[in-house]
Amino acid sequence: MKKALRVPVEKLGEEPYASVMCYPKPDKRELKKRLKELEKLGVKALEFKGAKEVAKLKVLGKGCVGIVVTAYKNNEKTALKIRRVDADRARMYHEAEMLEKANSVKVGPKLLDVSRNFLLMQFIDGELLPEWLEKPVGKNVVKRVLREVLEQCWRLDKAGLDHGELSHAPKHVIIDGKGEPFIVDFETASVNRKVSNVTSMGQFLFISGITAERVAEKLGGVDKKVLIKALRVYKRDKNRENFEKILTACGLLKQHSS
Ligand SMILES: Nc1ncnc2c1ncn2[C@@H]1O[C@H](COP(=O)(O)OP(=O)(O)OP(=O)(O)O)[C@@H](O)[C@H]1O
Ligand SMILES: [Mg+2]
Repeated sequence: MKKALRVPVEKLGEEPYASVMCYPKPDKRELKKRLKELEKLGVKALEFKGAKEVAKLKVLGKGCVGIVVTAYKNNEKTALKIRRVDADRARMYHEAEMLEKANSVKVGPKLLDVSRNFLLMQFIDGELLPEWLEKPVGKNVVKRVLREVLEQCWRLDKAGLDHGELSHAPKHVIIDGKGEPFIVDFETASVNRKVSNVTSMGQFLFISGITAERVAEKLGGVDKKVLIKALRVYKRDKNRENFEKILTACGLLKQHSS
C-alpha cells in the first residue's frame, strides 16, 4: 500500500499544501492567518490520504463548503474540515454548534474544536453509504445499519435539530469498519425549522433514487404505498409509535404479535 503523506504544519505554507489550505485560490495573507489558527487548535500535522483529490493531493472529502483531511492533534488522529475561501459561509461556528447539539443525542462525529476557518472532529474511518452498499455485506447487517441510521434521525427529530440535507444524502452517511453509521455535515442544520430527518432519510433509503434502488436489491423491495402512508402519518405526529410504523414498513422491525 502507498504510504500516506504526513505533513507538519510548518510546511503547509508551501505548495501544493497551500492550495488545500486556501482552496480554490491561495492567498498569502489568508494563508498566514489560517496557519496561525491551526497552530492554536493544536494541530501538528495533516495527512493526505483518502478517496478524493484536491491539488493532486488525496483528501477525505471535498464539498462546496470545505475540504476534509486527516489531522493530527498531538498524536490523536482527527478529521479537519477546512473552510473553502469561496464558501457561502464566513465561519464554521454555526456548524460546530449544530454538531455539538447532534452529539448531545449521540449523532455525528464528536466535535473536538472549532475556529473561524476550521472544524476539528472525530475521524471516521469508513466508507460513504453508497460505496458500503456495494460491499458483500449480509442482509441482516444492512438492516441493522439502516435501522441505526433511522434511529439517529429519530433522535435528531426529537431534539428539534433538522439536518437539512438528508433527502439526498449519498455523501452524508459514513459507515465505519465496525458497521457504525455516522451522519456528517451539519452546516445547513437548523433548530428553527420543522424537522424532517426521519422522513427525508426514509425517502432517500427506501423510495427514490439509486441508493434506494440498491437497498431494494439488497433487502428486497418494500411496499412503497404503505411506507409513504407511514411517512405521512409520522410527519403529522412524530411519536415513537408512528416512527416504528415506518421501521415496520421498511422491513426493519418485526411486528409484535399482541
Ligand atoms: N469526521 C469525518 N471523518 C472522515 N471523513 C469525513 C468526516 N467528515 C466528513 N468526511 C468526508 O468529507 C466529505 C465532505 O464533508 P462535508 O459534507 O462536511 O463537506 P461539505 O463541504 O459541507 O460538503 P457538501 O458540499 O457535500 O455539503 C464527506 O462526504 C465525507 O466523505
Ligand atoms: Mg455541506
